[in-house]
Amino acid sequence: MTNSIAVVGSINVDSILHIDRLPQPGETISMQTFSKAAGGKGANQAVAAARAGAKVAFIGGVGHDDNGRFMLHQMAADGIDTQGVTTFADAQTGQAYILLQASGQNSIIVQHGANFVLRAEHIMDRQATLTDVDYTIAQFEVPTSVIQAAFDQTKAVGHHTILNPAPAQTELSDKLLAVTDLIVPNETESGLITGIAVTDLASMQANAAWYHDHGVQAVIITLGAKGSYVSYGDLEMIVPAFKVKAVDTTAAGDTFIGALAAELNPDFSNFETAIRYASMSSAFTVQTLGAFPSIPQRQTVVDVLTNR
Ligand code: RIB
Repeated sequence: MTNSIAVVGSINVDSILHIDRLPQPGETISMQTFSKAAGGKGANQAVAAARAGAKVAFIGGVGHDDNGRFMLHQMAADGIDTQGVTTFADAQTGQAYILLQASGQNSIIVQHGANFVLRAEHIMDRQATLTDVDYTIAQFEVPTSVIQAAFDQTKAVGHHTILNPAPAQTELSDKLLAVTDLIVPNETESGLITGIAVTDLASMQANAAWYHDHGVQAVIITLGAKGSYVSYGDLEMIVPAFKVKAVDTTAAGDTFIGALAAELNPDFSNFETAIRYASMSSAFTVQTLGAFPSIPQRQTVVDVLTNR
């Protein structure tokens, strides 16, 4: 697979606080251990795509600090082109504080820093990057105006766009939907955007119809352990998930998006195969601690899928 992908998105250093459970208001609890890992939704998606075999270029921002240098080094180690990452002198590199419970569930607090200093002008500076891609991917950890500029540019030269509307937002502009080819929300994100709670097949269909009515060709709603619902033209199906024991769910959704973009044919002709690949990739991610360290290489995923 040789898809060429531009990721417009966030870069964070993740501080992981290992705890048995979340504290109650006013309660003090002990932390079991503390660890750090490279992360950020955008960077995780870029790494997932690169490890799946795609050619990846990144557009984003870091601060002029040790965390920024660490993240650029980590991304380059996966062969990601980071020339589109601006180093901002007056901002800190983004950071996320992840409260990781013994159950594998996490709660995340993000300090956006340089990710939200990024402006549409930085996209205009990287126009050449966006003319040479099969897909441009974005999520909501950078300003919406930046995503709009990147998607406008990608569509102007006839390429495809993939929007992962995470973290959840209640409002998504018609203008952004009009330049989105494939949207990939989870159940909660989709319900917030459309106003239709995802509870059963009929509600998935109603969600998909809402996006199609707003000009989005293809919709994948990820359903956690229940798999992924896809709607594209006459195609409608639920592709089952793979059952594994989760140690840390951080970056599971990001891995799905990056792996999917690497695997999905630019003519959208292989949704089932691409979703199976993406699901297996995120099944690996939840079994290991941390974002970057847990994202699998292509051969690992292919070997397991081939032997099933
Ligand atoms: O989706 C997981 C990511 O969200 C973490 O790596 C963290 O940085 C936050 O951005």
